[in-house]
Amino acid sequence: MSEISFKDKVVVVTGAGGGLGKHYCLEYAKRGAKVVVNDLGGSLKGDGGNSSAADDVVDEIKKAGGIAVADYNNVLDGAKIVETAVKNFGTVHIIVNNAGILRDASFKKMQEKDFKLVVDVHLNGAYKVTHAAWPYFRKQQYGRVLNTASPAGLYGNFGQTNYSAAKLGLASFAETLAKEGEKYNIKANTIAPLARSRMTESILPPPILEQLSPAKVAPLVLYLTSDDNELSGQIFEVAAGFYGQIRWERSGGILFKPDETFTAEAVAKRFEEIVNFDDSKKPELLKNQHPFMLNDYKSLITAAKELPPNDLSGAPK
Ligand code: NAI
Repeated sequence: MSEISFKDKVVVVTGAGGGLGKHYCLEYAKRGAKVVVNDLGGSLKGDGGNSSAADDVVDEIKKAGGIAVADYNNVLDGAKIVETAVKNFGTVHIIVNNAGILRDASFKKMQEKDFKLVVDVHLNGAYKVTHAAWPYFRKQQYGRVLNTASPAGLYGNFGQTNYSAAKLGLASFAETLAKEGEKYNIKANTIAPLARSRMTESILPPPILEQLSPAKVAPLVLYLTSDDNELSGQIFEVAAGFYGQIRWERSGGILFKPDETFTAEAVAKRFEEIVNFDDSKKPELLKNQHPFMLNDYKSLITAAKELPPNDLSGAPK
């Protein structure tokens, strides 16, 4: 197998002044990429700022003979980050949406500002950066997006309603980007990592932290954003040397006949069948996948034609 190279690729990694993002940058640079190391250098809660976080990573890359430039913008100013890439390197090929903060609180105590800020940095920040890169991706018929979700986003976690909502949002954001980007050779995937960083240092015990090197996450990020990877719109879990894929699973379910009574009692009566996964499916597309669409697809198409058209001007034909 040939070596995976990022020569002539311009990579933007957000929140790359430490933790996981720093490792990604070092690895990309080692393999020839031109790297934009973005980080506003704030606290774990998102307060303050400091340019030295990004500068230190750029220095390390340059000392090792790599190419990198620092960017200190907030991901919410995504256009400025992409501008840094374009000004220095002419375009952008790969976006790794990695920046993140934590503002944990039980839901009872969750303040609106803490809910909103966490959703802003993770989800809206990823939107801003990716949206600014999208015209370049489309024009050059090449783009890679890697979003960072979390096990907390996939499964929920006490004290993290804000964080988990944003994180699952990032996964579905990539699922749709993958569909819209397909005909432009744009691929978008998501990882849900677990790694040693300032985010986990105070939560996990030292023997576990020892196994959670960010260096064990970086290989998957690089592979997914490389020319070798064919998959798009997928979610992966990665931690301590474990690499696996996550997908949606729908129970076999039931289909009420049109002449049946649609009542809460009717649902209650057949609820065990509704939640029975013996005959489950693994849907990936909205259309064609839903059992009721499969059963009566033609009449649905006819009905849909009678509705006012949606604005799908950007959708693939
Ligand atoms: P980290 O705190 O070391 O890295 C996050 C970086 O993002 C920091 O350097 C911070 O300054 C930067 N940042 C924060 N807000 C920013 C903004 N508005 N604009 C630009 N930069 C900003 O933490 P870590 O662990 O490296 O996290 C990286 C990503 O991985 C995050 O999205 C995190 O939620 C996710 N993650 C990490 C896990 C772990 O076990 N470490 C688990 C699951 C997800």
